[in-house]
Formats: sequence, structure tokens, C-alpha cells
Amino acid sequence: MPCVAYGAVKGGIQRMKIAIPREQRPDESRVAASPETVKKLINLGFEVSVETGAGVGAAITDEAYSAAGATIAPDATVAYGEADVVARVRRPQADELKGIKPGALLVAIVDPFRAGDELQPMQEAGVTAFAMDLIPRITRAQSMDVLSSQSNLAGYKAVLDGAAVYGRAFPMMMTAAGTVPPAKVLVMGAGVAGLQAIATAKRLGAVVSATDVRPAAKEQVESLGGTFVAVEDEEFKQAETAGGYAKEMSPEYQKKQADLIAETIKKMDMVITTALIPGRPAPKLVSAEMVESMKPGSVIVDLAVETGGNCELSEAGKVVEHNDVQIVGHLNVPGRLAADASALYARNIYNFIELLVDKEAKALALDWEDQIVAETCIIRDGQLVHPALAPKAEPEPEPEAAAAEPAAAETEAEAGSEESAESAPETSGDKQGG
Ligand code: NAI
Repeated sequence: MPCVAYGAVKGGIQRMKIAIPREQRPDESRVAASPETVKKLINLGFEVSVETGAGVGAAITDEAYSAAGATIAPDATVAYGEADVVARVRRPQADELKGIKPGALLVAIVDPFRAGDELQPMQEAGVTAFAMDLIPRITRAQSMDVLSSQSNLAGYKAVLDGAAVYGRAFPMMMTAAGTVPPAKVLVMGAGVAGLQAIATAKRLGAVVSATDVRPAAKEQVESLGGTFVAVEDEEFKQAETAGGYAKEMSPEYQKKQADLIAETIKKMDMVITTALIPGRPAPKLVSAEMVESMKPGSVIVDLAVETGGNCELSEAGKVVEHNDVQIVGHLNVPGRLAADASALYARNIYNFIELLVDKEAKALALDWEDQIVAETCIIRDGQLVHPALAPKAEPEPEPEAAAAEPAAAETEAEAGSEESAESAPETSGDKQGG
């Protein structure tokens, strides 16, 4: 049953309010609303307050927001005012929550499984927080899927970032002065970012191969004109979870995969790594030895650098050089295309907020039984509610089992953490290939 969470009175006495603050993290240039979505939010029944300068990194002026119907606030606290909803790009730090109304809905890319203590300020502020990065990968939620909208741009930009430091051309050029050979590019991880990287590198004229541990990736890579490189054993055939994500592979598989990659990588001019396992550190796929086997002038772009990196030598936020190989580890790669990334993110946010509104009553009406609402909510009125984050109740010890307790408890804890990390990003819905 839908439950009306916050009333907005019909007839215009009290309208829903939404605030769009300016992001404070130094590497964040995106914004959670665009003039287009401001107009749509107003049509939905919101008053929109945008902090001055919120769109500056995405080339959106205060005037453009104003012209779309938003009020420009001098700072975030004023923007929050009586806001029922706050839409952000990244999870807020403590000082970015000042003035927020307890019970307000906060919508952002929260990255909850790596947030640690940074969820605490949101709990203390008493907000109800939704993690856009937990939107289930089901057909109905595709228009809200920020992982797809942002990874797609990241995959494209990774190729351009690599090309910018590569001292050679991508396409084959047959000139009077001789032939320039095409660049050989290996893409590791053929999810949303990887597939876009393959398509972009192909468009630039490179010869592209790609690897992944999910069997479904093979056909997708080949349909883009790439060559699929993988150890296709029994474990590989089972490597996709019901939610469509990769499983963490066994040490034996990782060894076989590493041997194959070691042979492949030597011949490459560029390696673009995008491999992720939800809730886990990124798999280490490119060792220092592999980097040392590459030709001078080769380039590695590590898109997984923020979750520990796929390359042993990449450094978050830096371009490092090792043995004449450049390793690019830019942070927030979608933010390097902030205008497009913001436009798509703003639409994802709008589509999610639309789901929370009763359009007749022009009031927030959250249906907690809706899979999208339920799986995305991590904090409800200040309490951690996501099953993978909420504190687990201590089981009552049974007196006769006391002697065996330590070993049993340990096994249970291990099994529990395994399940949490696996189930956290996993969804039961009808996943569609992205
Ligand atoms: P991701 O960002 O979690 O991971 C990137 C890629 O790395 C994945 O393809 C994964 O299989 C691969 N990977 C993990 N470990 C690896 C290893 N050791 N070696 C090589 N590759 C490794 O994945 P992403 O891009 O979020 O896509 C995950 C799945 O979700 C895909 O099946 C995609 O088609 C699907 N999807 C579904 C959508 C929908 O139904 N709405 C939307 C977008 C994606």
C-alpha cells in the first residue's frame, strides 16, 4: 500500500520543495538537476531551490536555472530551507547537511558499501536516504540507472584520456611517407563502460580485443567487432550472478586468467580496465610484471582506480609512468564530461523522484513495497535499513551449545558477510542486458 509520507496541500497552500546544492568535493563537477529537469520538477508540483553556482562545473548558469523557474539560494543551508527532498550527486559530508530538515528525502550516489563512517552524519541528520547506485537493474528502472548513464560516459572518456597521452595514432594510415599501424587496444571488463570503450576505440580505428568473466559478454564484444579473450572453462560458464554481475573468481581461475592476460598484454598498445565486482575491491588484473612486459610508449587507463584499481601500479587521481608505460588513474571520469554526465544524471534523478510523487495530489507518496524504493533506501528517518548495512541482531546463545560457540559464531559471521556483500547489489528482478 502506498503511504503518503509528506503532505503537500492541494490548492497551492503548500507545495513540495526540492533543493539542489552545489557539490563540495574537489573532484566533483556534476550537478543533480538541469534546467530541463527543473521545469519537469515544477510541473510535478515542486518548488525548486538551486544553490548559486551549483551548475558551474557542468556549464549551467544560475540564469539558466532561474529561467527554468528555480529560485537561486545564496548557500546550501538557504537552499535546504524547508526542502522535502534534497537531490545531490555525491553523499554529503557532515558540513553539507547543515540546515537539512529531519525526515527530508536525500537522493544521491551514496556508494554505501565503501562509505564507512560517512553514513553517520546522514543518520544524525535524521534524513531518509536513497542510494541511486543501488537502483535495481530491472526494465522499469532503466531510466533511473545512474551506474549505466555514468559508466557509459566513463568508458568513452577513458579511451580519449588514453589517446591523449598515447604518442601514436589510433587508426591505420596509409600515407606517401609510409603506413602507420593501427593501435591494439585491450579492454578488460565488458560491462557498460567496457562496451562503450570498445565501441569508441573501434570508431577511432583501433584493433580491439576484450576480456570478461561473464559468458554473456562474449557475444556483446563480438557484436561490436572486438575479439573476445577469456579462459572459457566450467567456472566461467557459471560466473554471472542472477543480477547480471560478475562473481569473484576462484584463485585457480584467476591464475589461468592472469597467464592468458600476460600473453595478450605484451602485444597491446593500450589497456583499458573497467572490471568491478559489486561490494568488493576491484580485481587486480594487471600486475607490475605485466606492465613491465609492455612496449615502451604503451598506455594503461584504469577506470577501477577508485575501488582499488585493476592495475597494481595505478594511483588514484594520478597519471604515473613505469618503465615507459603511462598509467592513467583519473578520479571521477564521468565528471570529466560534467555537462553530459549531469544532464543524464539529472534525468535519472527526475525519473526516480517522479516515482515518489502522487501526481494527482502533487504530494510525496512513497510506496515502500515498490522494489525500486525498497532496494534503494539505505537510511529511513535516520535508521540504517538496508539489509546489507543495518546492524544485525545478536542471536541469544543457547546454553548447551556454549562449548561449540566460538567456532560456530565465526563460521556464521563469515557466511553472513559473504551473503551481505553478494546480496547487497544483487537484485531479484528481470535484468536486461545494458
Ligand atoms: P560492473 O561495473 O559491475 O563491472 C564491469 C565489468 O567487469 C563486468 O562486465 C564484469 O563482469 C567485469 N569483471 C568483473 N571481474 C572481472 C575479471 N576478473 N576479469 C574481467 N572482467 C571482470 O558491471 P556493469 O557495467 O554495471 O554491468 C553489469 C551487468 O549489468 C551486465 O550484465 C550488464 O549487461 C547489466 N546491465 C543491466 C542493466 C539493466 O537491466 N537495466 C543496465 C546496465 C547493465
